[in-house]
Amino acid sequence: MNIDKMKVSIIGMGYVGFPLACAIAKKTEHEVIGIDLSKQKVDLINQKKSPVEDKQAEKDIKEISLSASTDFSKIDSSDLIIIAVPTPIKENKLPDLSCIESATDSILPFLKKGQLIILESTVNPGVCDEVLIPALERSGLRCNEDFNVAHCPERIDPGNKKYNVYNIPRNIGASSSESAAFAKKFYSSFIDADINVVSSLKAAEASKVIENTFRDINIAYVNELAKSFDLMGLDIIEIINAASNKPFAFMPHFPGCGVGGHCIPVDPYYLIQKARDMGFEHSFLQMARDVNNSMPEYTVQKLENSLAEIGKKIKGTKVCLLGLSYKPNVGDLRESPALEIKKILNDRGADLAVVDPHIEGTQELSKSLERSEAVILATAHDDFKKISDWKGVKIVIDGRNCLDKSYFISKGIIYRGIGR
Ligand SMILES: NC(=O)c1ccc[n+]([C@@H]2O[C@H](COP(=O)([O-])OP(=O)(O)OC[C@H]3O[C@@H](n4cnc5c(N)ncnc54)[C@H](O)[C@@H]3O)[C@@H](O)[C@H]2O)c1
Repeated sequence: MNIDKMKVSIIGMGYVGFPLACAIAKKTEHEVIGIDLSKQKVDLINQKKSPVEDKQAEKDIKEISLSASTDFSKIDSSDLIIIAVPTPIKENKLPDLSCIESATDSILPFLKKGQLIILESTVNPGVCDEVLIPALERSGLRCNEDFNVAHCPERIDPGNKKYNVYNIPRNIGASSSESAAFAKKFYSSFIDADINVVSSLKAAEASKVIENTFRDINIAYVNELAKSFDLMGLDIIEIINAASNKPFAFMPHFPGCGVGGHCIPVDPYYLIQKARDMGFEHSFLQMARDVNNSMPEYTVQKLENSLAEIGKKIKGTKVCLLGLSYKPNVGDLRESPALEIKKILNDRGADLAVVDPHIEGTQELSKSLERSEAVILATAHDDFKKISDWKGVKIVIDGRNCLDKSYFISKGIIYRGIGR
């Protein structure tokens, strides 16, 4: 095998797999094949269009040679196979490894001696050793004798203007020290950042899952503070900003109407379940999940309390929900708390208009504001921060604390943030 000119196949052309495929194709001499179950995504890639909202990848695809297919036989004779498929949770919040299992089934006929299989999906400690390797060994080939496995968890933050697939440091764990060194060399060929080798597959898995759990816990902490500071008449943003001028040991996190996306509200459940299987109850992590899951209801309660101040109820009130996606300026709906807010408002009989300039099929901003008495802002899209005319709106619930509170006070509009 020529290490500088390999055949690299990537399974899963989503937010992780596609930018990665672009980066490898752009920075190296490797032949890159993208595989996905979605014909729509594959067709887009073959038309040189990005199947995901990622500014860097949208540019990259125009400049590179990348062929995509739904046909797994295209991965035949690959030197390296990278798996970047979803790892969601089931309805009962338990880890759902079915995409990894089905992707592994599909690559089994094309497994060959000398190959390295790299898992990029986020998983709990133990999945590579207990699920992935046994599944691959059903081929009759043996890990570390015939093929190797590495885990290089992705950390990409779609929409982040500073950090992308090219400059985010990585951690790698592998089934052998040789394959770890090989994987490090591979990633170093297209990433300009530290590529750190950890002691095992399990250590790499754990490193990723604690990053997102850390964020979940810290957000839960400030969400809980928001609830109590509200009762004390304190503005949490002022308090967090004040605490933040400590030059060490305080890292600001901010409250909001809920936590969304494919990672933060999902990954802690992987760790919680794995520890439970081992006989340990992560009650702290579970509590963080519960606090963050309570925020959509808390946000709607703020609207109910504000409506009560003007003698109204949610039922029949014209409400405008600003934002459906889980983060600003993208159209990603995965685990978005705005969806839960929408459901609660509908269940309580609000006369609802939903506006999200990044999601097709939602309503127009100006007309929706014009008809509405109350607004809940659930996503801090730039378009919403720029609104200068709030028409006849009487109540604004700022679920992202991103609007100018003093403006609303000066106009006599009831303004409530989360903790302010
Ligand atoms: N999106 C992020 O910001 C992010 C960041 C870091 C890590 N991760 C992790 O990376 C993994 C992938 O996430 P994503 O955001 O790219 O998901 P995604 O849903 O955007 O993309 C995954 C793709 O895999 C495809 N797929 C599913 N099963 C398949 C199969 N059996 N064979 C072939 N293709 C299949 C899907 O059609 C989809 O296009 C997850 O474990 C996630 O937790 C995501």
